[in-house]
Amino acid sequence: MTDTSNILFQPFEHGQLSLPNRIVMAPMTRSFSPGNVPGSDVAAYYRRRAEGGVGLILSEGVSTNAVTATGTPNVPNIVSDEAKAGWEKVIAGVHEAGGKMGLQLWHEGPFRNPAKTEHPNTPSWSASGFKMPGKQLWKPMTETEIETAITEFVDAAVTAKDLGFDCVEFHGAHSYLIDSFFWSETNQRTDQWGGDWSGRSRFACEIIRRTRQKVGSDFPLIIRLSQWKQQDFAAKYAHNPDELEKWLKPLVDAGIDIIHCSQRRFWEPEFEGSSLNFAGWAKKLTGKPSISVGSVGLTGEFTAAYAGEISEPANLDELVHRMDSSEFDLIAVGRALLQDPQWAIKIKAERHDELMSFSKDALTTLS
Ligand SMILES: Cc1cc2nc3c(=O)[nH]c(=O)nc-3n(C[C@H](O)[C@H](O)[C@H](O)COP(=O)(O)O)c2cc1C
Repeated sequence: MTDTSNILFQPFEHGQLSLPNRIVMAPMTRSFSPGNVPGSDVAAYYRRRAEGGVGLILSEGVSTNAVTATGTPNVPNIVSDEAKAGWEKVIAGVHEAGGKMGLQLWHEGPFRNPAKTEHPNTPSWSASGFKMPGKQLWKPMTETEIETAITEFVDAAVTAKDLGFDCVEFHGAHSYLIDSFFWSETNQRTDQWGGDWSGRSRFACEIIRRTRQKVGSDFPLIIRLSQWKQQDFAAKYAHNPDELEKWLKPLVDAGIDIIHCSQRRFWEPEFEGSSLNFAGWAKKLTGKPSISVGSVGLTGEFTAAYAGEISEPANLDELVHRMDSSEFDLIAVGRALLQDPQWAIKIKAERHDELMSFSKDALTTLS
């Protein structure tokens, strides 16, 4: 196992965001919030990760609207008074433990299944009504719906700031609402919200730009992006660095601070001819700090884990090598931290024999 006394435990500073180390808890939906309200068990779960030395905790996806944004049971929102009070306790606990935390703001868009909600007659939203390429289930979003969705993201971000969170992350990945605008396969609009690269980025850019106006220049804004889609793990939105630049630059110009690049395996090169991964290219092309993610400290990747594959602890040599060369700035860790709140402390102290395997049994509890 690797000596990680170096880069992983170096502080990170960017504007108002000052972190003691480079380890970020990846956003992970836990579905332990009955009535969409995070309770004391959720607060204790996040506090344990702060006590366990995580540099920045990103929350599970948090719904920006109680009806159209969510179809997954027991997912917390940030719109009801009860939920806001719940989140206030979460951030207070994390801060008391010396941690930092951001809320991940999530609109499920086409992956909300109306039939499984209390509002089965309310259609789901996506740029052109597509869930999968070629599978149009709903009407394209109207101008009014687009404005509503943008406003709800902005309001949620302002609420997060007011409640004391240290940053917010917009969930722009994994085929949900924002991503349905990015991807040409699911955005077939011919108006200002579709068409070329800038048209398909406009929805995200408006969210970022209007949020930036309200939260001021200092409040850190992160966006999570993925090339892979739930419908197609091999999908590529950007096929080469030029296209990636066309995707990312407008987001930076709109006011994003940090780009969180979702991969299932962080070591996989993004484009032929270079070993740089997605986060590596994002940083190189924009000059902005980036977060990488994907199978850190574990042998298997997360979608296989859902299917029951057990992942064993894996060494961090490749990760440290990439971070030592400044390919990206921060590393998000999902399942290893879901399984073990002490993961970062164990890595720092080189207690490698205490690292745990991940099995999907861990999903059934909030330990
Ligand atoms: C139980 C679970 C829930 C997840 N929920 C979210 C989520 O709400 N938002 C998100 O952006 N990614 C979500 N993900 C993806 C993770 O953030 C992360 O990208 C993925 O698990 C890969 O990291 P890992 O290999 O370290 O687990 C989830 C993953 C897991 C395992």
